[in-house]
Amino acid sequence: MYLDADDEKILAGEQGETRQKMLELLVALGKVFGAERLVPIRSAQVSGASYKTIGEYGLKWLSSLNAKAVVPAVLNPIGMPRLRWKEMGVDEAFAEKQQAVVAAYERLGISLECTCTPYYLRETSYGDHLAWSESSAVSYANSVIGARTNREGGPGALAAALIGKTPCYGLHLAENRKPQVIIRVQADTRDWSIAHFGALGYHTGKLVGNRIPFFSGIGPDTDQLKALGAAMAATGAVALYHVEGVTPEAVKVSYDLSGLETIPVESDDIVRLFKDLPVEAVAVGCPHCSPAELASIAVLLDGKLVTKPLYVFAAQGVIDKNRDLVGTIEMSGARVFADTCMVVSPVMEQYSSIMVNSGKALAYVPDMCGAKARIGTIEDCITVATE
Ligand code: F3S
Repeated sequence: MYLDADDEKILAGEQGETRQKMLELLVALGKVFGAERLVPIRSAQVSGASYKTIGEYGLKWLSSLNAKAVVPAVLNPIGMPRLRWKEMGVDEAFAEKQQAVVAAYERLGISLECTCTPYYLRETSYGDHLAWSESSAVSYANSVIGARTNREGGPGALAAALIGKTPCYGLHLAENRKPQVIIRVQADTRDWSIAHFGALGYHTGKLVGNRIPFFSGIGPDTDQLKALGAAMAATGAVALYHVEGVTPEAVKVSYDLSGLETIPVESDDIVRLFKDLPVEAVAVGCPHCSPAELASIAVLLDGKLVTKPLYVFAAQGVIDKNRDLVGTIEMSGARVFADTCMVVSPVMEQYSSIMVNSGKALAYVPDMCGAKARIGTIEDCITVATE
């Protein structure tokens, strides 16, 4: 694997032990995956941030590192809101450990924006090379923006943030971004909601596994694409997909689709996932809400009061820029929390059933929170939370 003179100095330990070890990790990864070189990255998004997932061992490892990020880097959602954890009902012992994890990342120069939607906070453009971790963010970057990132593990993304480069293999290379299976949606999707596209992702992720799907017959907007990709990354391992006439590479690159397997999807495959089920709480914002999603929730909640807990999750930067909408939502008794989500926060484990408008949450809530999950449109979610 080619390394430049600066890399060689880092490997020789001239810039400290942490940077040496981090570059060793990137070189080892590169060798495993056959990378010929490292590629400079525009940004990193680092998973392994929730104390619920990394535990004491992860905290100890982070605390032992000593270097600073050299590219903009954010964190994945953590187990609680950094500012309003008491209000969310997080217990003090957990909060103390979570704060220690956050402090360890801050010391490493990672910005304390804890979100799976870093693309709302930092400009990310077509063709950018990135080292992002969280599966829905990876899917959005690759598919909706046309940037290039593999799905990094937490240590790989952290190493890339501290070195500013990542091994150039997998989805960093154009030849690995071609469609591998066609999904032909045979349904009238013009009235489909974000939740319907999440359900489409839930269904198709199971069918395609880790292949790169090429969708035809749909025309989703960016929030719907976000939901589609997040769910496919959850029930499958899809890190990149294309939508005919919609996603940037499907528009700019003329892919040869001949000989690919075609899988039909019908309306019934999706509609059957929308089951009626009594729920104890409602949670929306998986992935974290866009400004447009906050606006639609605010409109639906305006003048109403919630009758059961309603959690809304969004990036702190998105909340800060949309204080009016957040104010309207919270007037209803709902709470808009940053930095965390219904899957990584231990608080959600108190409920035995949760309603969501996300295909990804539909897939993860049962295992991660031990609760039954019901999917509905955002309108259904607000109706259930206020009835
Ligand atoms: Fe984001 Fe949590 Fe969903 S990290 S994609 S809100 S499971």
